[in-house]
Amino acid sequence: MSALNIVTAETGPGGETYRPVAIASIRLNTAPTFDLHFRPGPAQPLVLYSQRGLPITHETLRRLGENRIETLYIHEDALSEYRQYVAENLYDILADAKLPIRDKANILYNTAQAVLEEVFEHPPTRETVAQGKEISRHTVDLMTADGFTLEDLLRTISTDYYLYTHSVNVATYAVALALRAGYADTPTLREIANGALFHDVGMSRIDPAIRAARAPLTPDQWARLKQHPVEGHALLESLGCLGEVALDIVLHHHERLDGKGYPHGLGDKALSPFVRMVSVCNVFDALTTDRHHQPARKTFAALHIMQTEMRHELDQGCVRMFIEMMGLRS
Ligand SMILES: [Fe+2]
Repeated sequence: MSALNIVTAETGPGGETYRPVAIASIRLNTAPTFDLHFRPGPAQPLVLYSQRGLPITHETLRRLGENRIETLYIHEDALSEYRQYVAENLYDILADAKLPIRDKANILYNTAQAVLEEVFEHPPTRETVAQGKEISRHTVDLMTADGFTLEDLLRTISTDYYLYTHSVNVATYAVALALRAGYADTPTLREIANGALFHDVGMSRIDPAIRAARAPLTPDQWARLKQHPVEGHALLESLGCLGEVALDIVLHHHERLDGKGYPHGLGDKALSPFVRMVSVCNVFDALTTDRHHQPARKTFAALHIMQTEMRHELDQGCVRMFIEMMGLRS
């Protein structure tokens, strides 16, 4: 079972596309703004289960169990309404003691992607940043809950490269790495998550043609792209919603220990532990996801690059912790 599964799709009546959604994401005493369908038997066509606007009652949920319905489907056109619905009910879903942690991780990961997609499609506002902060809060809560294992989240991580996927991946890794490094206080963990989630938000100000360029960038284009940390920092600072740790991460995530990073060419001494951790997570995700110019590298190949070619750029203590965190040996 998976929520917002964008890979699996089913064809319904009239050849239209339907997406499976987790039953656990459909909540008691809500009135979804989308129709829910189910398949009465193998090879049978999808039929309407619950009409949009109707409340989800105990009876609705009881009938699901009685009929052994394990998957509900929504029309592809209702996907954004479904995402909105899940975001609104996220607290309730994640607080559900009966829902396995790996299902919660899956729902949270996919909702986080949807929220971040919105952030990158439009210039961020106080409202979308507030939604991102909610995601950070839930991420930290989930990852510090009893019974959580990183495996629960890693198995949902996508290697498709989109800015929003990358942002959620980096936030996931960053919270895990901070926990591994011994940061235990919730406000700091949330700030790290916020910084990681919004680290590339300045990209929303960069010409999409530059962002998506397949050919090598011209010096001018490259100079423009390197402005994204400054742009993101200015945007977020003007909204006044994030703290110093998060803003530091956004501004400095491309700085390097050898002083050859950007935008300011800061060196070893000037970089906070938070920036060092997020830089490692950022590089790892960049290396292990499909990009225009290179296919995704395997975990070991990526870590090898980080320990050899990039040994003067990345904090090697953080790299080693990252390797341990992934359950590997350096
Ligand atoms: Fe970046």
